Amino acid sequence: MNNYKEAAEYVKRIIGERNPKIAIILGSGLGVLSDEFVNEVIIPYREIPGFPISTVEGHAGELIIGTLNNVEIIAMNGRFHYYEGYDLKEITFPERVFKLLGIETLIITNAAGGINLSYKAGDFMVINDQLSFFAESALRGKNEEEFGERFPAMEDLYDKELIKVAKEIINKYTAGRAQEGVYAYMKGPTFETPAEIRALRTLGADAVGMSTVPEAVVAHHAGIKICGISCITNMGSGILDEPLSNEDVVRTANLVKGEFKEIVKELIAKIDAK
Ligand code: HPA
Repeated sequence: MNNYKEAAEYVKRIIGERNPKIAIILGSGLGVLSDEFVNEVIIPYREIPGFPISTVEGHAGELIIGTLNNVEIIAMNGRFHYYEGYDLKEITFPERVFKLLGIETLIITNAAGGINLSYKAGDFMVINDQLSFFAESALRGKNEEEFGERFPAMEDLYDKELIKVAKEIINKYTAGRAQEGVYAYMKGPTFETPAEIRALRTLGADAVGMSTVPEAVVAHHAGIKICGISCITNMGSGILDEPLSNEDVVRTANLVKGEFKEIVKELIAKIDAK
């Protein structure tokens, strides 16, 4: 608890009077949003007491606090993944700091592989639920009562109203490429096997990725509203007749980044207006 407080106090000292209510985690290749901030303050993770440091290529490691579309927000430019070697408490450290800073809504973005056969690379899927059978919970261990209860209910993990709003906005900016579905969490760093993709489809997954679930669980535990958006950067392993590579992920993320920026800007304005 003290570590979270120390980190939050450090950030507060730097941002002074600013009082953002919305935070966003920028997923792989989606850090482009950082160009759009006005009056921003950038705080490298390494300067924040207790914050882990981002290592993976394509992920910066900084908090950006600034105004986007006239709304004050905090962005995580670079996130922490299990496959990098962090433990779950490190991966989800920022969400608890956000809670202490007064964040009410968290937008989580990621790159994901499509499992639903009606999806195409370049679609955006609004997450309506998640599967994480094969990973331990980020809430394992002593419960931090100051944040939330021991056994959180999960029916409303992804905020229903925000799902509707996000889909409308995505459809507007992508000529109808909004999807809505279930995100399956895999620990990586291998892409899935074709058999895993078939199994996940049978289990009810529409997309798969290596992030988001730990952060969503910890933010939800603390009572933060969540909106999750996956950029479908590729079809899951074995679906198309070609091997997967991270280059495909980066290429698609680059192709849609203009749309992504507009979607997020409008989403933030809509959340702020509520
Ligand atoms: N699998 C897991 N994570 C991913 C994928 C995928 O196909 N694409 C982007 N992130």
